[in-house]
Amino acid sequence: GEITNREQKEKVAKLVSEKVSKGDVIGVGSGSTALLALESISKRVKEEKLQITAIPTSKEAALHCNYYDIPTTTLLESRPNWGFDGADEVDEKLCLIKGRGGALFAEKLVMASSSKTYILVDESKFVSKLGEKYAVPIEVDPRAIHLVESELIKNFNPLLVKLRMANAKDGPVITETGNLLMDVKFQEITPLMEQQVKAIPGVIESGLFLNYSVEILSL
Ligand code: A5P
Repeated sequence: GEITNREQKEKVAKLVSEKVSKGDVIGVGSGSTALLALESISKRVKEEKLQITAIPTSKEAALHCNYYDIPTTTLLESRPNWGFDGADEVDEKLCLIKGRGGALFAEKLVMASSSKTYILVDESKFVSKLGEKYAVPIEVDPRAIHLVESELIKNFNPLLVKLRMANAKDGPVITETGNLLMDVKFQEITPLMEQQVKAIPGVIESGLFLNYSVEILSL
């Protein structure tokens, strides 16, 4: 249920706060689990007066850092010593699907810039086959939605390609970089697909995180 789920997320959040050392530059992920972790980190930082700097992966994460009095910087000024983030799905090879919150582009930039990222998940995120629960989010330049859709159909014959809508009245979701999101249900996700999807002109990034230095923190 919802309560056990939250308790699990809180325990996972505590685990990551133990990883913090004085002076660290930390990549801060987006989503509800990452927020709990940030809260837990901020408590330790206050109690032990550890000075840290965050590199947030979304405007939302930046606001949360600000709320918890954690100074922020960007990838232009600094590189993270390590980072933490959530995920929508994790398989046994530590491949991830991310981006239900739409922050996948910055999340991948920050993760690729970090030598290690802790992925915080409760047990509901583990799958035996990647893509079994969720579609793969793909961030697309608005001019390229028709091209990307037809290339995806031609190359992968997916089960479903859907433009992400905020709701019937608000129209499509627009990402922080002014792009659109397509949620794609593939028949199968193979190791080469992260590169193959990215190679379609107009694709900014996908929520396939297939080969990153991650460590899973779960219960
Ligand atoms: C944000 O774009 C996502 O990649 C999140 O990391 C992912 O959706 C997990 O979010 P929760 O921790 O809220 O489940």
